[in-house]
Amino acid sequence: MLIRNATLPDGRTGIDLLVHEGRFAAIGPALPAPAGVPVLDAEGWLLSPPFVDAHFHLDATLSHGLPRVNASGTLLEGIALWGELKPQLTQDALVERALTYCDWAVARGLLAIRSHVDVCDDRLLAVEALLQVRERVRPYLDLQLVAFPQDGVLRAPNALATLQRALDMGVDVVGGIPHFERTMAEGADSVRLLCEIAAQRGLRVDMHCDESDDPLSRHVETLAFHTQRLGLQGRVTGSHLTSMHSMDNYYVSKLLPLMAEAQLHAVANPLINITLQGRHDSYPRRRGMTRVPELLAAGVNVAFGHDCVMDPWYALGSADMLEVAAMGLHVAQMTSQAQMRSCFDAVTVNAARVLGLEGYGLEVGCHADAVLLQARSPVEAIRLRAARLAVLRRGQVVARSAPATAQMALPGRPAAVDFTLGR
Ligand code: FE2
Repeated sequence: MLIRNATLPDGRTGIDLLVHEGRFAAIGPALPAPAGVPVLDAEGWLLSPPFVDAHFHLDATLSHGLPRVNASGTLLEGIALWGELKPQLTQDALVERALTYCDWAVARGLLAIRSHVDVCDDRLLAVEALLQVRERVRPYLDLQLVAFPQDGVLRAPNALATLQRALDMGVDVVGGIPHFERTMAEGADSVRLLCEIAAQRGLRVDMHCDESDDPLSRHVETLAFHTQRLGLQGRVTGSHLTSMHSMDNYYVSKLLPLMAEAQLHAVANPLINITLQGRHDSYPRRRGMTRVPELLAAGVNVAFGHDCVMDPWYALGSADMLEVAAMGLHVAQMTSQAQMRSCFDAVTVNAARVLGLEGYGLEVGCHADAVLLQARSPVEAIRLRAARLAVLRRGQVVARSAPATAQMALPGRPAAVDFTLGR
């Protein structure tokens, strides 16, 4: 395939991309078209590497209302509700919902997802289901699974054993939830233990870490410490980190360089953080998202995740990573041109670094995976939640959407004016 006349996220325009055997073979202006090669005319629209979601829960997605809705809309009721739903889960239903969500994802140009999977279930039904889904979607979507002990690896009976079993079965990444353990000390011990398991097995780590409004929660410091002690630099992610929002500024000035030194990745989940945090506050009410601009300035790689779509914690969402980027931009007040641009990176290149994706990007030799957006720049894509005109996987078009337009019929104006929404 030859893609003609694309605008790239770095601002280059009029660029052609030649695909050979599923990878980009040449990129530049006015490339000659080899005989018989199909041409996709990008018409000057923005071609981006695909969206990547660095933090999701595919075992819970699309279960909204089962067995009942979250009446308070809080994190703790969500966890309790998930506990009620777990015994009722069936493998077929889990597989079906996860596959449906992956269809939504592909349609939105989201071609790689890191999903946590709850391992606090002796049957490991969800693990088996998502391992099956990982294989089924492999031709069109990279699914990376995290062994997530939702009820606490030390707090829940058998959780350590089931987590190890899940890893034996082929789950990719070691998860954790230190702030949910019984004490701060047990939380710290869980971080040590889980990092040691990852080091022994040669795996990456991604923990739900300090997902509270407690300004004294200190688990990310412990995570950075064990990352360095065990030589796991660049392979460990702290997800949520919402306590950092509420921490003392002096302490954060010490913490940020420690995180950078350990090459930790940070994942904020703007849609979820802004709805679940600060719920014990009256007014003023904290936003609760981690300190994204400060982390970036300290040299920490930051990605945004969707976290939840229509599940016990969040009744909204549609696999649209541009919605996630837009919310992150607003909550973090990242409104300079460079900051808005970096919110696009947070759902593309930065997230790909979190997952450690091989061959990601619009470079010669990379996989020919891309999304063609009805926008002229990354910032415009965020502003418009731009239509995904075409989605490419290994050089094949796997999804198309119609451009966003409206036919107008306004009194006093020429009949049937065509109007491209927002442009
Ligand atoms: Fe999560």
